[in-house]
Amino acid sequence: MNTVTTVRELRAAVAQARAEGKDVSLVPTMGNLHAGHVALVEKAAQRTDFVVASIFVNPLQFGPNEDLDSYPRTLAADQAKLHQAGCDLLFAPTVEEMYPHGLNSQTRVRVSGVSEGLCGGSRPGHFDGVATVVTKLFQMVQPDLAVFGQKDFQQLAVIRTLVRDLNMPIQVLGVPTIRADDGLALSSRNGYLSAEQRALAPQLYRDLQLLAERIQTGARNYEQLIVETKSRIEQAGLRPDYLEIRQADTLQPASADDRQLVIAVAAFIGSTRLIDNLTLDLAEIH
Ligand code: PAF
Repeated sequence: MNTVTTVRELRAAVAQARAEGKDVSLVPTMGNLHAGHVALVEKAAQRTDFVVASIFVNPLQFGPNEDLDSYPRTLAADQAKLHQAGCDLLFAPTVEEMYPHGLNSQTRVRVSGVSEGLCGGSRPGHFDGVATVVTKLFQMVQPDLAVFGQKDFQQLAVIRTLVRDLNMPIQVLGVPTIRADDGLALSSRNGYLSAEQRALAPQLYRDLQLLAERIQTGARNYEQLIVETKSRIEQAGLRPDYLEIRQADTLQPASADDRQLVIAVAAFIGSTRLIDNLTLDLAEIH
């Protein structure tokens, strides 16, 4: 696996792969890779001949009081994992390479609708930063396939909408969340948790499962269910940021008649904010 840091080298390597008749996939990441990322790269390698991964901690998607500076940067370990997973090319640019004219004068991409509420509500501007960097990466690599994790459910919806609305000839693939044995969704931010906090964290998934079970067995008073579940999350020692039941495709608030649902949650443990989600297909059971 080669690592390149400039757009010029990236384009040359992708052009070479194309000249050899290969189809190309892209797995955008911010590094500090775990088994969830490895699953994305493996999926990309199953589907295409030439896999590009990117590692870039994108300042445009972090708010002023967020963890941009402390976000873990672990390039050497990441390179080993990517190589092992079947990645052909790593693009690991600097901030100057990605934003040579500065952050303030950078053209922004805004995906209306699906960017609003949930994480978009708690992290203003976050999805504009994601949509902007992903658009730039798509323009640089021009992949046939792009692979993202379903753990960031709203991000995936933003990217699918972006690709649709800007007529990009890219297939977007969402890969199911990889979890630790106790159910906690793998995330680079899990590394911020103390041992005590780490022991509490799986409660989030347990509460999602409990809520999903109640809906599957016929409960439809979503407002009430949300109040009860939030209170259970609080009792476990976490601080809910949001908990919502939405339509899985549009991310609009769900009504009792909707059949494809996503339950999305964000909660703080200490100062660490974790997100998770569960999708439900009620058409399968009724
Ligand atoms: O999910 C992430 O790691 C980031 O939001 C992404 C998609 C790489 C954009 O910076």
